[in-house]
Amino acid sequence: MTLAASSLWGGTALAGEPSKADYRVVPLPVEIAQADAGAFVLNNSTQICYPAGNAPLKRNAELLAGYLKQLTGYDLKLVTKAPKKNAIILADGLTSDNSEAYSIGVDKDRIEIKGASAAGNFYGIQTLRKSIDANAHGDVVFPAVQINDQPRFPYRGTHFDTSRHYFPVDSVKAFIDMIALHNINRFHWHLTDDQGWRLEIKKYPLLTEVGSWRDGTCVAKDFESSDSVRYGGFYTQDEARDIVKYAADRHITVIPEIDLPGHMLAALTAYPKLGCTGGPYSVWQRWGVSEDLLCAGNPKTYEFIDDVLKEVVDIFPSEYIHIGGDECPKVRWEECPKCQAKITELGLVTDNHSTAEQKLQSYVMEHAAKTLAGMDRKMIGWDEIIEGGLFPGATVMSWRGVEGAREAAKQGHDAIMTPTNYCYFDYLQSQDIDGEPFGIGGYVPVSKVYQLEPTADLTAEQAKHILGAQSNLWTEYISTLSHVQYMELPRLAALSEVQWMQPDRKDFDDFTTRLPRLIDQYRSLGYNYATHIFDVQGGLEPDYEKHQIKANLRSIDGAPIYYTLDGSTPDEKSAVYTEPIVLDKTCTVRAVVIRPTGRSREFADSVTFNLATSSPVTLATKPHSRYSTPEGAALLTDGRLGSTSFGTGEWMGFEGTPLDATIDLGKIQPVQKVTVRVLVDALNWIFDARGFEVGLSTDGQTFTPVAVVDYPAMTGYETDIKTHVIQFPATDARYVHVKALCETSAPEWQDAAKGKPGFLFVDELIVD
Ligand code: ACM
Ligand code: ZN
Repeated sequence: MTLAASSLWGGTALAGEPSKADYRVVPLPVEIAQADAGAFVLNNSTQICYPAGNAPLKRNAELLAGYLKQLTGYDLKLVTKAPKKNAIILADGLTSDNSEAYSIGVDKDRIEIKGASAAGNFYGIQTLRKSIDANAHGDVVFPAVQINDQPRFPYRGTHFDTSRHYFPVDSVKAFIDMIALHNINRFHWHLTDDQGWRLEIKKYPLLTEVGSWRDGTCVAKDFESSDSVRYGGFYTQDEARDIVKYAADRHITVIPEIDLPGHMLAALTAYPKLGCTGGPYSVWQRWGVSEDLLCAGNPKTYEFIDDVLKEVVDIFPSEYIHIGGDECPKVRWEECPKCQAKITELGLVTDNHSTAEQKLQSYVMEHAAKTLAGMDRKMIGWDEIIEGGLFPGATVMSWRGVEGAREAAKQGHDAIMTPTNYCYFDYLQSQDIDGEPFGIGGYVPVSKVYQLEPTADLTAEQAKHILGAQSNLWTEYISTLSHVQYMELPRLAALSEVQWMQPDRKDFDDFTTRLPRLIDQYRSLGYNYATHIFDVQGGLEPDYEKHQIKANLRSIDGAPIYYTLDGSTPDEKSAVYTEPIVLDKTCTVRAVVIRPTGRSREFADSVTFNLATSSPVTLATKPHSRYSTPEGAALLTDGRLGSTSFGTGEWMGFEGTPLDATIDLGKIQPVQKVTVRVLVDALNWIFDARGFEVGLSTDGQTFTPVAVVDYPAMTGYETDIKTHVIQFPATDARYVHVKALCETSAPEWQDAAKGKPGFLFVDELIVD
């Protein structure tokens, strides 16, 4: 466990000296023009001025005073009449076609922050606040400057699941403060799910009386076991309104999510008649995707949806209400006479695009959307809503990749990008699973978040439909605010540049030079944060043309890196890294950054060199587009060995299709062993191979089978790397044909995947 934030990054301020503001903050402003008009010195008698009678700017002034108190220790006075000198002047009325734009002008007498709106003014305040060195208390020197800035996207979101775990109101407010620091303006609040209904609904009191409590919680990776400890909590409508106000003061809109028609077990437990089977149900103690949904053939379901949404709309003034729509297995509906009668009544038929049940889901979602439209609100739904056909006014939140948003945009619908492999902050930030707080797995480092380009591959017209991007934090294995912060920070910093900056100005290396100052703010605010960014950056890079592998390493602040290639632990006496290391034999690279404040975590990665290394490979089957590289099949003989994280680019993934590869060793030579490294991650539908076939050939035309092996199906959840060794009598060959069979029908115990094609992940084919 590495929950505690370490102090790898030391402060820079000298005691007694006024610290100097640095405007190169995160996210980086559009324009920072240094002026020669001297500098403004913020001291104990600086005053903050806002226009009399302007309530939002008064609120901004109070927040600014709070930030400055925390950073400088000064209690600055708020005034409404602008002093001639030594004042921070807040104003709105900046002329801009971007309502969130702002400018900051600094000269020796004043700092003026002018927003195109109170929100714009607030982002100017955030920039000013972040420009201060959080390690220094006392006077701050602000060099004269003119800053002009505005966000790229109007929707800059963060999602927080308070169903799988309940977080008290104070924690939700702390979450809101944390996102405000990152110029985020939408808080997607996931309030209902199988594991707990968290919002008071007056007309259905049992939703919280019964549905907000469960008899235990799964605490293991199996998704199924339970600690049998009663767990629950909910937000009253007054508390929810208080949170809405708290967020609005920080120019953040709360978008509540009522997830339907699936993810409804908590509601069904309270009102079993709303389910297809009538129950009994119990609030889920486990994770995964439940097959029990709202019954779409029961008129009471539609009444329930309308009643709940009416109360939701009354609490939340947001233009958008999220109504879920994700992960809805259709087995109950297929077997339910009422649902089937509804399908007949509506004349829904299965066609090439959608099943009748998928269309029924669209019918339910459209019903909810119309109810919202009747109250002047719009809906957002997860990308599954595309499956049964998009209805007018549907906005799509794309999570299973970017394709949902692209498809929506192509159909002229608005969309929000939140693809798992860039935006799921419940995924781990390191491949060293044992070094991380226990979690759901996956791998989304800060650098990956930074790479998201929300409008890639879209025409200018389609790109206009991408409202923005959002990160999601699902809390199956996250139960404390400190752990929430650890998962969010500093990935939220990377996301904020995706949301705020134009793509041509984004630069990850430059971002990392600005990040330490923001991390100082985290520390000063008492936030827990992940420190991986201070570890060795970079890694092993295959050079497919030169048939080499290079270790290309760096530290974000230039601190020295020490490394070994012989397996020993690196320390100050080890070799100092100065340039990329060319690797040409089987070895493990171990490296560490050493600063005066201590050692970073260790980087370790291995390469293998064997008869197949760097040999060309041809594939007769196609890997999944997301789990292959531009170099293609060369990935299988590049010498790099993957970790247990499937999304690192080291693994090639096949969905329901075998891997069918032929390696050309370049010359005829004796071959007696083929080793296939297979990743197993059953939770993520990645199963072990079901068998292997190996054939050898001297001419690439005629292959002689030398081994056929069958494997049984997996019997339970497991994450591991299987090294399958297939041995046979030494035989002369130049071409080696390897077929690895994929699980085509996932086993029963994997409820989300069962019966569906599994994935086969292979990182390396090793020939000896
Ligand atoms: C989701 O992650 N089920 C939207
Ligand atoms: Zn039904």
